[in-house]
Amino acid sequence: MSHTSSASHVPPGPGGGKPPRHWAIINNAFSTDECERLNAAFKELDAKDGGLVAGRFDQKVRQSALVWLPESEEFDWVIQRMTRLAADANRDVFRYALNGFEERLQLASYGPGHYYDWHIDRGRGAVAGRRKLTMSVQLTDPKDYVGGEFELNADGRPFQVPVDRGAMVVFPAHTLHRVAPVVSGNRLSLVAWVHGPDFV
Ligand SMILES: [Fe+2]
Repeated sequence: MSHTSSASHVPPGPGGGKPPRHWAIINNAFSTDECERLNAAFKELDAKDGGLVAGRFDQKVRQSALVWLPESEEFDWVIQRMTRLAADANRDVFRYALNGFEERLQLASYGPGHYYDWHIDRGRGAVAGRRKLTMSVQLTDPKDYVGGEFELNADGRPFQVPVDRGAMVVFPAHTLHRVAPVVSGNRLSLVAWVHGPDFV
């Protein structure tokens, strides 16, 4: 497994030495086969929900179809993988005090016309307010959709996250990010938040 991260070009602070890194990219976080399994899981769970979960958002900001991954043995492997990847990224880049996943993992599907405008994930709720890291895995082959770029803006310059299938980006949950409108096809992603105590 290769671990590469893109650093910003902000000069080091007076106490630093290393420039701050605003995100971590982990290629091959999930294999093609595992991405397929999660695509199948989305279809099954979405059919079960009857689409009730979708369309619950402010449609000016977000349009997508979501399902929450059940906390069942079937998906233990996903949680275990994400736990290890979160620990690796946190050790290498962020070094935050973290407690773990306090929300279920989410599968988000963006079809034609779907998007999620610029926003941050750290929210006001009791749980959303404890989100410290966001993890997002690309589960669709980039050949299968047009548009739907995932972008981060940590330092005033939008950064386009690599679209390789199975690649993951990890970033602080207070970082601005968006999913640009999908033009055609469908883009599926796995999203998780890692929670922890307030920054002090
Ligand atoms: Fe988000």
